[in-house]
Amino acid sequence: MELGDRSYPIVIGSNLLGSYDLSRQLAGPHCLVVSNETVGPIYLERLQGSLPGRNVEAILLKDGESWKTLSTVGSILDRLVALRAGRDTTVLALGGGVIGDIAGFAAACYMRGVSFIQVPTTLLAQVDSSVGGKTGVNHPGGKNLIGAFHQPRLVLIDTDTLQTLPDREFRAGLAEVIKHGAIADAAFFAWLEGNMTRLMAKDPEALAKAIRRSCEIKAAFVAEDETEQGRRALLNFGHTFAHAIENSLGYGEWLHGEAVAAGMIMAAELSDISHADRDRLQRLVKAAGLPVAPPPVGPDALRTSMQLDKKGKAGRLRFVLLEGIGSAYLSNEYPENRLRDILDQAGHAMPRPVL
Ligand SMILES: NC(=O)c1ccc[n+]([C@@H]2O[C@H](COP(=O)([O-])OP(=O)(O)OC[C@H]3O[C@@H](n4cnc5c(N)ncnc54)[C@H](O)[C@@H]3O)[C@@H](O)[C@H]2O)c1
Ligand SMILES: [Zn+2]
Repeated sequence: MELGDRSYPIVIGSNLLGSYDLSRQLAGPHCLVVSNETVGPIYLERLQGSLPGRNVEAILLKDGESWKTLSTVGSILDRLVALRAGRDTTVLALGGGVIGDIAGFAAACYMRGVSFIQVPTTLLAQVDSSVGGKTGVNHPGGKNLIGAFHQPRLVLIDTDTLQTLPDREFRAGLAEVIKHGAIADAAFFAWLEGNMTRLMAKDPEALAKAIRRSCEIKAAFVAEDETEQGRRALLNFGHTFAHAIENSLGYGEWLHGEAVAAGMIMAAELSDISHADRDRLQRLVKAAGLPVAPPPVGPDALRTSMQLDKKGKAGRLRFVLLEGIGSAYLSNEYPENRLRDILDQAGHAMPRPVL
């Protein structure tokens, strides 16, 4: 990841956890591993093998997005204070995006910022959330409302961790991989078309290649635009619709990646591209076992949620549209009637029972 003097390596491969020596990456002798009650028991011991001779402290948080709060960050900070951790402490995140976001934010806050290492264990975290330096937590007033940019010193991606990841979570991560191909790299998209079966079978070599290319694409967008003024916004392809789906259904009903999958299909329909390109995207999303249409929440629910989406400026929505497979742009010019037809696919709101 190229960010001048804050550049850092992303190491990807199988059988890294426990064999890759992280010692040289530690700022000092002390480190705190932040994980959760699901991932910790499976991988913590293996991670300790990567920290030979170190006094490794660990904190296991409860599992789930609902724990991504300031008070959880508070509990990590309390632990660091209790350990009398100094400025040369390293915080390691071992888990999915939730753990990475929380641990990264704690690392950003403690003593105005200590060193941070990401060991992402979900596909989504490996191809998306561990790259780019965004950290933070939710607030009752909004998702990811509180946070900071804090770049890790290293990202260690062991593809073997995906073997224990629930299939549904794995497929959700594939949505972001497909997104990276669709917005930035036609050759990678074509490679995904040819290798989706291997990926679904969690073939280590195919996984490493898909993760590496995904990280490169995300890193390139971030390096160009670290604080999201322009091009980084293209990473939101499918996300205006996805957020509306998540919002209308209630967060947690569909996984984020599932909503992104349907959202990408909707954004492709709004784009002025060939039928052939639309078909290719639809086929690839289907091959990854992901939804190609929104759930039946009703067009009004989606429209209302979209108006609330933060990308809306001056009343008109902005969408990331495709120019073709492998190329995207941001626009607020789109045919209103086509948007209406796309939203109509969400059917009509299910009638509420009258009690
Ligand atoms: N910082 C960013 O740039 C960024 C980008 C995208 C998403 N995010 C954030 O990421 C979060 C979602 O991350 P996620 O999809 O990884 O969800 P998650 O962290 O909740 O992980 C999903 C589930 O899988 C479990 N799990 C993780 N790794 C496992 C493994 N190897 N084996 C078995 N179980 C495992 C977790 O305990 C959890 O139950 C959201 O909070 C989102 O806001 C951040
Ligand atoms: Zn996303």
